[in-house]
Amino acid sequence: MNETAAPSSFRLSPVTRALGAEVHDLDLNAPLTPETRAELRTALRDHLVLFFRGQHLDDEAHLALARCFGEPEVHPIRGALGDPSVLQDIVDTPDSVPDRDGWHTDVTYMERPPAAAVLRCEKAPESGGDTLWANMHLAYERLSPGMQRYIGELSGFHATDARFVDYIRRHLPADACEKVMEAVGSGSSHPLVRTHPVTGRKALFVDRSFMVRIEGLPRQESDYLHRFLADRADDVSIQCRFRWNPGDVAVWDEPATQHSGAADHRGSERVMRRCTVAGERPR
Ligand code: SIN
Repeated sequence: MNETAAPSSFRLSPVTRALGAEVHDLDLNAPLTPETRAELRTALRDHLVLFFRGQHLDDEAHLALARCFGEPEVHPIRGALGDPSVLQDIVDTPDSVPDRDGWHTDVTYMERPPAAAVLRCEKAPESGGDTLWANMHLAYERLSPGMQRYIGELSGFHATDARFVDYIRRHLPADACEKVMEAVGSGSSHPLVRTHPVTGRKALFVDRSFMVRIEGLPRQESDYLHRFLADRADDVSIQCRFRWNPGDVAVWDEPATQHSGAADHRGSERVMRRCTVAGERPR
C-alpha cells in the first residue's frame, strides 16, 4: 500500500492490511469538487477498493462517482443486445441460485477490460451475499523471483467458451446468445503479469472464471500452472470482504484486483447495480 498524505475531503479507515478502505464523512449525493475527485483517485490508487456506507445513490450520483475514475462504458453483453445503458442490475431472487462466486477481473475476454467498477446495493439479504476482493499486486509479489521471471514471458487466453455461453444462457433469452457471441468474439490474449497503467506496479492477471489456458504450453503444464496461479487469490492474507447493506457503494481498481461474490444467500433477494469505466489494453 502506498502511504500518501491524509485526504482533506474525507476520512479513510483501512479494511485489512492487504486492501480496501472505508470512506467516511463524504456525501456522494452532493456535487464532488475537483479536489475531492482527485483525492478519491489517490485513495483508490492506494487502497484499491473504496467502500461508502449508507449513500443510497440514484443513477445520476452513481455515474458522477464513476466519472471520477474514467468514462462509464456499456457492458459488451448489454451492448450486443442493443441496450445502451451503462448501468446494469445484478439480481438474485428467492428462486434463483446465486452464481456470482468465482474470483475474476471483469470482462477480461475483451481486448480492453475496464479500469474500475462502481457497485451499489439496493437490496441486501438478511445474511450472506458479501463480496470479496483480492490484491493481485501482492499475489504477484509473493511469488518467487524465478516464478516471476518465468510467467513474465507468458500470456493467457481469456475466452468466451462453453462456460461463458452456459452463463449467458442462464441469464438471457435464448435468441440473445448468438448476438452476444458475434459481438464479443472468441476471447482475448493477455499477459499473465500486467503492469498497472497508473502506478506501474506489477499484478498477477490470472483467474479461473475467464482465463482458459496459458498460451504456448502443453495442455498439462498449462493446466497445472494455471491452477497454481489462479489459486493465489484464495490466500486470505491478500483479501478483504464487505458485508452489504442497502445504500452501500464499492469502487474498485480492476487491473489490481480480483473479486468474487460469496453466493451464500440462496433463497434471499439481493439487488445490486453496477457500472464499469473504460480501461486500457493490459500490458
Ligand atoms: C461482480 O461480480 O461484478 C459483482 C459481485 C457481486 O455482486 O457481489
